[in-house]
Amino acid sequence: MKKIQIISLFPEMFEGVLHNSMMWKAQQEGAVSFELINLRDFGLGPRKQVDDMPYGGGDGMLLKPEPLFAAIEKAKQNDPTAVVVLPTPRGKQWKQAIAREWSELSTGLIFVCARYEGYDERVTEVTDEQVRVGDYVLTGGELPTMTIIDSVVRLIPGVLGGETSAEIESFADGQTLEFPQYTRPEVFEGRKVPDVLLSGHHGEIARWRAENSPKIED
Ligand code: ADE
Repeated sequence: MKKIQIISLFPEMFEGVLHNSMMWKAQQEGAVSFELINLRDFGLGPRKQVDDMPYGGGDGMLLKPEPLFAAIEKAKQNDPTAVVVLPTPRGKQWKQAIAREWSELSTGLIFVCARYEGYDERVTEVTDEQVRVGDYVLTGGELPTMTIIDSVVRLIPGVLGGETSAEIESFADGQTLEFPQYTRPEVFEGRKVPDVLLSGHHGEIARWRAENSPKIED
């Protein structure tokens, strides 16, 4: 079972995503387990402080190193070989090929969700990977973490349903996106399903699907 730990100041943001659909099914089937770690629990002093002003001046507050290090340490104690991931707009671009690699890793994953205007850079000394989900800035690492987790967990063997997905995956080889698909009715409000899909000709159908599968660009 793949263990995924998430360090966040807003663990409740994950509830909807982890308790529904494929992510929920994956947990029920024992393919993955999630643990949410509240960064606030590692805050300093009676006010559980997690942020502070940047040296050198500037707007906004930064996540302090002590709570981040302590939370990562806790997660590492739970799973010593886990890969520690920091979603950040300065990281390398997240890609399907990395999702596949990570889904095949025997080790767990620890996600460190930064918030506010940033984090003390020293945290990068205890993280293994920095990843960005796109060339835009979000207010925290939570949404990127959900995106990354979703794309990894669906590739863990047995998580996606049966032959259809296996078929798509083997055809797609991870480098092409799904082809367009249709279900009944054959004609809906005058819009017709492409004839080839009704032809029963498997070779023609495979060719049509290959031609209509957009490539994932690097
Ligand atoms: N945190 C804020 N923006 C981000 C992005 N685009 N990717 C990953 N983490 C982020």
